[in-house]
Amino acid sequence: MSITLLHSVLQVLYFFLPAYLANMSPVLVGRRFSALAIPIDGGQTLRGKRILGDHKTWRGLLAGIVAGALTFELQRLAYEAGVARGLALIDYSAHPLLPGLLMGLGAGVGDAVKSFFKRRIDIEPGASWPVFDQLDFFLGAYLFVSLVYAPPLLPALACLPVIFLGNLAFNAAGYRLGFKETWI
Ligand code: CTP
Ligand code: MG
Repeated sequence: MSITLLHSVLQVLYFFLPAYLANMSPVLVGRRFSALAIPIDGGQTLRGKRILGDHKTWRGLLAGIVAGALTFELQRLAYEAGVARGLALIDYSAHPLLPGLLMGLGAGVGDAVKSFFKRRIDIEPGASWPVFDQLDFFLGAYLFVSLVYAPPLLPALACLPVIFLGNLAFNAAGYRLGFKETWI
């Protein structure tokens, strides 16, 4: 891998920091805010199968939007303070808040769309669907944030193995700590 491609990969990985935090946030929020722990699909079914299932809640979706926006704002503050500027793909000062909101929302929507397909093929909520479970949020975040800024595609594709492994590591840790039902 050339130095310039490696640099672009690191920039794309840094750019999507809000999406990773958004994806982790439903697990990190745990059992707090129980009033919002309502299934997004409202318990509805489609051809006898749940649309999304009980594990996709408004609490998780909102936690992701908040986490995405907060992380992006911290990156913006860092940029304005001159920190990690070499990793910045965009002028953070020119794009307050919106990319963070879009990455948080996109991560949650990507995850929920994946759950929709899991229910269609009879995979129970919480049971694993390797590769799709690890990359769903990134695809969603990429598509949503592209409304304001589309990160370069080739480095984004090169990020996939890193994101896949990072996600596995987080899930394995969550499983050991008792937050997750499966290790993968
Ligand atoms: N979660 C949530 N709301 C969301 C997304 C996630 O409450 N919109 C919580 C659920 O408790 C879920 C956990 O975060 O069990 C881990 O999320 P994830 O791995 O995405 O869901 P799964 O449990 O694997 O469910 P599914 O089979 O529907 O993907
Ligand atoms: Mg899962």
